[in-house]
Amino acid sequence: MKPVTIGLLGLGTVGQGVATILARNAAEIERRTGRPIHVTRAAVRNRSKAEALALGIDITTDAAALVSDPTIDIVCEAIGGEDPTLSLLHSAIDNGKHVVTANKALIAVHGNALLEAARAKGVAVAYESCVAGGIPIIKALREGLSANRIEWLAGIINGTGNFILSEMAEKGRSFEDVLAEAQAYGYAEADPTFDVEGIDAAHKLTIMASVAFGMPLEFDAVYTEGISKIQREDVEFAQELGYRIKHLGVARQRDDGVELRVHPTLIPERRLLANVNGVMNAVVVHGDAVGPTLYYGAGAGSEPTGSSMVADIIDITRTMDAHPSHRVPALAFQPEALHSQTLLQTPDYEAAYYLRLRALDQPGVLATVTTIFGDLGISIEAIVQKEPDPSDVSEPIPTVPIIILTGRVREGLVEQAIIRIEALDTITQPLTRIRVETL
Ligand code: HSE
Repeated sequence: MKPVTIGLLGLGTVGQGVATILARNAAEIERRTGRPIHVTRAAVRNRSKAEALALGIDITTDAAALVSDPTIDIVCEAIGGEDPTLSLLHSAIDNGKHVVTANKALIAVHGNALLEAARAKGVAVAYESCVAGGIPIIKALREGLSANRIEWLAGIINGTGNFILSEMAEKGRSFEDVLAEAQAYGYAEADPTFDVEGIDAAHKLTIMASVAFGMPLEFDAVYTEGISKIQREDVEFAQELGYRIKHLGVARQRDDGVELRVHPTLIPERRLLANVNGVMNAVVVHGDAVGPTLYYGAGAGSEPTGSSMVADIIDITRTMDAHPSHRVPALAFQPEALHSQTLLQTPDYEAAYYLRLRALDQPGVLATVTTIFGDLGISIEAIVQKEPDPSDVSEPIPTVPIIILTGRVREGLVEQAIIRIEALDTITQPLTRIRVETL
């Protein structure tokens, strides 16, 4: 059968992964698809660097020519960024090409328009590699779990952030040191604030929520908090209490709306998710019929991300000659059946909370604090007061850290408690608040 031809946009870490897998596993892949798949051209910025890879691919610096090249069937995008990538992908679609992309920011922010353009043209846009690297989570949500009403999902979906938190917790390494290592491995985004401030995870959560709940991509609705403010003492206190701190993306479908949130989270250490370390990702999906299911694997890196992109290429190859209506819908639900949901705001979110306060070590402080919780109807699950630190001479009276774990409660109530506690003369620092999920 006539080979399927791939044009690669980018031959960096991910692009090379795609080219390598397609070459190494060519025979195995052809047994799956029934026809060979050839990467014929790659558009890059630095021609000599790409030619030095000696991949046997025609190298060009003209990306616009590649996306309009009549010999190319599928454009596989691994350059990232928005400009000129978005217009290149629209141009590829206008030229009748299928698109495979690893660009989660582009899908999360511009995906509604891009997918609509593809639908109008009768081509596919596939984006498995946008979420959780090599884990086929889009496939699982869109196909394997399609019998279910998805109730919630929660995942460690940024490898760089998880690598940083794991190294800090296990080896006491500094934040900057670990980030530099993640960048050297090629895990981190071009702008590493995307990793450490939770933006990358929010892109991925946006995509998963849309596919899970049948709603348009709503990136602006995601509450986003990163890991840059996590202190070593919180990592240690959490461990003493039997928890690990992980950066989670959580999407929950409630009767009154949808919660979409990305933030550091205490997870009981007995949970599998609490033991996902390094650059690994994991997602728990809870369906009404199946109950909880867990997906685990490498969240970043050349071949894991390449694995997902090649799987998309294979899927497209299999249905290339079929009528577009015979393909799995891009966002899992029929396009006309996608509908916006009520997007809940942070005061309506529900979670349990870890609160760390620093208080003067004098009688009555704890009683005053616990009274505030009682007045607001917030139940306290655990409270621990630590010894005063003799080296802390910042206050005339010694101060002590107090750790409180609340029961599950509306966030608006916790915010009220925090305001009232911080207003007390005996509290010497702003409170630290980290959500707790028992999953
Ligand atoms: N920067 C991302 C991460 C790459 O660290 O997870 C994979 O999406």
